[in-house]
Amino acid sequence: SNIEIFDTVDEVKVTAIVLAAGKGSRMHSDIPKQFMTLGDYPVLYYSLKAFQDSPVDDIILVTGEDYVEYCRNDIVDRYNITKVRKIVTGGAERYDSVHNGLIAADGAKYVLIHDGARPCITQKIITDSIDAVKIYSACTVGVPVKDTIKIVDEDQMGVDTPDRSRLWQVQTPQSFNRELLLTCYDGLAHDKCQVITDDTMIVERYSSVRTKVIMGAYENLKITTPEDLKIASNFLKKDVDTK
Ligand code: CTP
Ligand code: MG
Repeated sequence: SNIEIFDTVDEVKVTAIVLAAGKGSRMHSDIPKQFMTLGDYPVLYYSLKAFQDSPVDDIILVTGEDYVEYCRNDIVDRYNITKVRKIVTGGAERYDSVHNGLIAADGAKYVLIHDGARPCITQKIITDSIDAVKIYSACTVGVPVKDTIKIVDEDQMGVDTPDRSRLWQVQTPQSFNRELLLTCYDGLAHDKCQVITDDTMIVERYSSVRTKVIMGAYENLKITTPEDLKIASNFLKKDVDTK
């Protein structure tokens, strides 16, 4: 169609929104996990550097009010992450932080929303996400679950065992047509009593668009509890043993 021809000719802006406004309560550390040291750098550096070296046009960094200056001076400027166009403050819930990032990402046709607590993101994950969002408008990376998953009741008694071959663990980046996701956030604003853990849930609930799930990587883990730092640090030691 004409629209497809137009899209391939016109430059479309792609913005990464990197989330670093969480408190990291499950890590039980003094500073939020995204600022803890991993190898030679803060956790947050790795994903910013990955987007810096990728085809995305620019980056919106979302962080807590108390960490804006630290992020600007000690990460963005210090490591020369020149694609960071704005640093904005987040909100109480992850979806509040995403919403602030989305508003700041004006001019973008597509957004890649990434957890700053996932340092092992690769260039392949980023380029595969960009390719997929241009086709599907909503896309997430994920991996097939390795363990059998059990649904339990309040007494931790087994209720059901879903078919493992249909279960994927969802990661980030989650990539969207920006206008689509903004419209879905309008729906969310009028319906605040839901438990929302990611943006694909928001698109499922407030639009008819289905999310494409593409292969991420088992290495693309989210730093959540202390042992995750050890695992990530091994992954970041550059394939020494696997080559
Ligand atoms: N995040 C955010 N704003 C929030 C909550 C989370 O920007 N209000 C970000 C986190 O900084 C992290 C990502 O979203 O990069 C994934 O969230 P999660 O792993 O849950 O991090 P925290 O909420 O910080 O950790 P916890 O749930 O253990 O408190
Ligand atoms: Mg959280």
